[in-house]
Amino acid sequence: MRRRTIGCEAFPLPMTVSILGTITDGHPNFMALGWWTRVNYRPAMLGISINKMNHSCHAIMENREFSLNFPPVSLVTQTDCTGLISGKYVDKSGLFSVYSGILAQAPLIEECGLAIECRLVESVSLPTHHFVVGEIAAVHADEDLLSNGMPDMEKLQPVTLSMPYNRYWCGGTYVGQAWKMGRELRDQLLDQPFTRKALPIKRRRPG
Ligand SMILES: Cc1cc2nc3c(=O)[nH]c(=O)nc-3n(C[C@H](O)[C@H](O)[C@H](O)COP(=O)(O)O)c2cc1C
Repeated sequence: MRRRTIGCEAFPLPMTVSILGTITDGHPNFMALGWWTRVNYRPAMLGISINKMNHSCHAIMENREFSLNFPPVSLVTQTDCTGLISGKYVDKSGLFSVYSGILAQAPLIEECGLAIECRLVESVSLPTHHFVVGEIAAVHADEDLLSNGMPDMEKLQPVTLSMPYNRYWCGGTYVGQAWKMGRELRDQLLDQPFTRKALPIKRRRPG
């Protein structure tokens, strides 16, 4: 068997696509995030890797809270759009209906049937990214996505991302090209006047 060394871009596992939610200047901001993983059992903790240049990174360091929202495949264009442009330049919060759970600085997305709120417990500064460890404060799940009270992957049908070819998948079916599907929507956001005003966030139905 002939072998080659191929550099560093090896991603043997597809990643579940999430949308990271943070608050900047009292305003919700969202960005697509694929580099996350569960890192501790009890207390329940997850880790996310976030580029230091991102607006969301500054927000997490400042507020020490964030959310991870898991979009259905119907939301893939909006999800991709959040990964194509920074909240420094456009208001991405209007792409979704926003609500709040138990944390004040971790905005949640109504259209995402599964969402996790986290408090920052630790962060590791790497050359380009911060690896941020968050303790899970609450998990919100739509009832029709549960089986025996637990999220059911067959019902949730999460969108996954494969790298380095940057493709979205759902249930093994190709959905489209990441960093591309949301371009038209991004251009529409860029055409809108950008004013940073704090929006009221709905509190969610109890339960
Ligand atoms: C599918 C997808 C996955 C992404 N995953 C990550 C990630 O894990 N970490 C990261 O720092 N940036 C990731 N990005 C890039 C950010 O979403 C992008 O830089 C975004 O514009 C940052 O927005 P912000 O400046 O408003 O925080 C991803 C983008 C896409 C399209």
